[in-house]
Amino acid sequence: MFVSIDQEQYQIIEEPYYKEVHDEISLFEAAYAARLPMMVKGPTGCGKSRFIEYMAWRLQRPLISVACNEDMTASDLVGRFLLDKDGTKWQDGPLTTAARMGAICYLDEVVEARQDTTVVIHPLTDHRRTLPLDKKGELLHAHPDFLLVISYNPGYQSSMKDLKQSTKQRFGALDFSYPDRDLEIEIVAHESGVSTEMAGKLVSIAERSRNLKGHGLDEGLSTRMLIYAGSLIEKGIEPLAACSVALVRPITDDPDMRDALDAAVTTFF
Ligand SMILES: Nc1ncnc2c1ncn2[C@@H]1O[C@H](COP(=O)(O)OP(=O)(O)OP(=O)(O)O)[C@@H](O)[C@H]1O
Ligand SMILES: [Mg+2]
Repeated sequence: MFVSIDQEQYQIIEEPYYKEVHDEISLFEAAYAARLPMMVKGPTGCGKSRFIEYMAWRLQRPLISVACNEDMTASDLVGRFLLDKDGTKWQDGPLTTAARMGAICYLDEVVEARQDTTVVIHPLTDHRRTLPLDKKGELLHAHPDFLLVISYNPGYQSSMKDLKQSTKQRFGALDFSYPDRDLEIEIVAHESGVSTEMAGKLVSIAERSRNLKGHGLDEGLSTRMLIYAGSLIEKGIEPLAACSVALVRPITDDPDMRDALDAAVTTFF
């Protein structure tokens, strides 16, 4: 297969470490085979991005990720004319590059983007599979291998910032949540280098925090935070201090909540 230099830089060479939580791998493979655009939903730090990296590697497709934000315009995704010494030159945006090359394009936190930005993905995510480059006067037909994936944190956004139904209904969706206890212990131990016994304590603290969700915490401690805490412990930091820096202080400024979390930490350390 011909692989251009451009494509090579987006190719994931080494297998990313990913532990399947339910049956998301086979579901995503089927979705890719059907070229069904996918939405991955779930709280921060639960493995959504890692999963997409893993799937891109497994399916041997280049991966182009874009972090969306509210200042992003349609041109940031699609492309624009740039001025250089010879005049103006068109430069493809990341979405256009992915559609041309047949990559998986991962739009992270797509709900952050303004709605006039979000609608540019509509013709790409239905039977048309096209991307109109209006300013350039080109109608791009997506490469047969192209797939669009978006991520979405349900619950964070107000209804003002929700995705439109006409956007949502163009995607299949996979729900992500924190892995089950034994699996999460394995992941935290693998990623941070701590023992399974230590990882077990960190996961126990996280479980307590997750029960506080909606009772003063917007979100419980994520797998990512546990890995951070474990990494500090691996660097020789006392577990109590590591948990304070990596778990309790980042997640809340509320003194009562900090007390409740500190109490959970001191139960285990
Ligand atoms: N099932 C899993 N297998 C392997 N690693 C995992 C898994 N779940 C979570 N992780 C670990 O958790 C970390 C955080 O996951 P990731 O960055 O994918 O979160 P995310 O869901 O994309 O969060 P955000 O919404 O904030 O972008 C990863 O770096 C990875 O080490
Ligand atoms: Mg992510």
